[in-house]
Amino acid sequence: DKEEEMVSRPPVITIMGHVDHGKTSLLDAIRDARVVAGEAGGITQHIGAYQVTTDGGSVLSFLDTPGHAAFTSMRSRGAQVTDIVVLVVAADDAVMPQTVEAIAHAKAAGVPMIVAINKIDRPAANPTKVRTDLLQHEVVVEAMSGDVQDVEVSAVTGQGLDQLLEAIALQAEILELKANPNRAAQGAVIEAQLDVGRGPVATVLVQKGTLRQGDIFVVGEQYGKVRALINDKGERVKEAGPSVPVEVLGLNGTPEAGDVLNVTETEAQAREIAEYREK
Ligand code: GTP
Ligand code: NA
Ligand code: MG
Repeated sequence: DKEEEMVSRPPVITIMGHVDHGKTSLLDAIRDARVVAGEAGGITQHIGAYQVTTDGGSVLSFLDTPGHAAFTSMRSRGAQVTDIVVLVVAADDAVMPQTVEAIAHAKAAGVPMIVAINKIDRPAANPTKVRTDLLQHEVVVEAMSGDVQDVEVSAVTGQGLDQLLEAIALQAEILELKANPNRAAQGAVIEAQLDVGRGPVATVLVQKGTLRQGDIFVVGEQYGKVRALINDKGERVKEAGPSVPVEVLGLNGTPEAGDVLNVTETEAQAREIAEYREK
């Protein structure tokens, strides 16, 4: 894509960390806080990814699914979806094996990290231990005069959540993320399932271009025509641009997480590519 066609796009954020350090709780707390703040009475349905707007006006796209396995499989399938990793470390447990794994994944992918020191509300919380542990793994946080942002948070009390969002927004500004919205869409499957009523449904994170109702596409070994697009609030939308997660209806089969979606000119093209991949 030509530089002059590129426009700013929201960052895509993945939350990683050791088991039970609070990844899901943090995602839920961020979403719930923003839903309450922004959309009176809104009930956000689970679609595997969601967007929030910070008080400062930045839009952030969070991925709700990937554990380490999904992150790795997506990368090996060519779908590098994450711009920023939020590394969650429980303040009462400090750095554990999967924390170290997550650091390795982020470094291997060249994705910047922000450390969320979670469970700061717990009496046994020891954020200093977290920071010195991280030092052993060459993650030097700002509180230790390094350049990795660290924020003390609690998914239970909500402490620090706004600061975490602002830290993410700041990191995103530095990255100057851009995409061309005026081209055939390309995206990555975040999750997919066969829905009894609706048929195969895929949650797709659009990465380039704009995906529209009626578009013909190939995704992994499947193809289809967009029958409907549903946003993270459960609303029907006509189109989705870069960094926007949407549910896509109109697939001929169920793709896999990490599969890449490409819009094609004709259905014959889409079918041909899908059949070629199947072999
Ligand atoms: P896995 O997906 O199983 O790896 O766990 P997770 O990292 O998603 O952690 P989860 O959100 O399931 O939280 C694990 C436990 O920690 C739950 O009992 C949460 O209620 C609790 N927890 C999470 N965040 C906090 C927090 O900030 N403070 C306190 N006190 N408890 C928390
Ligand atoms: Na858990
Ligand atoms: Mg979880």
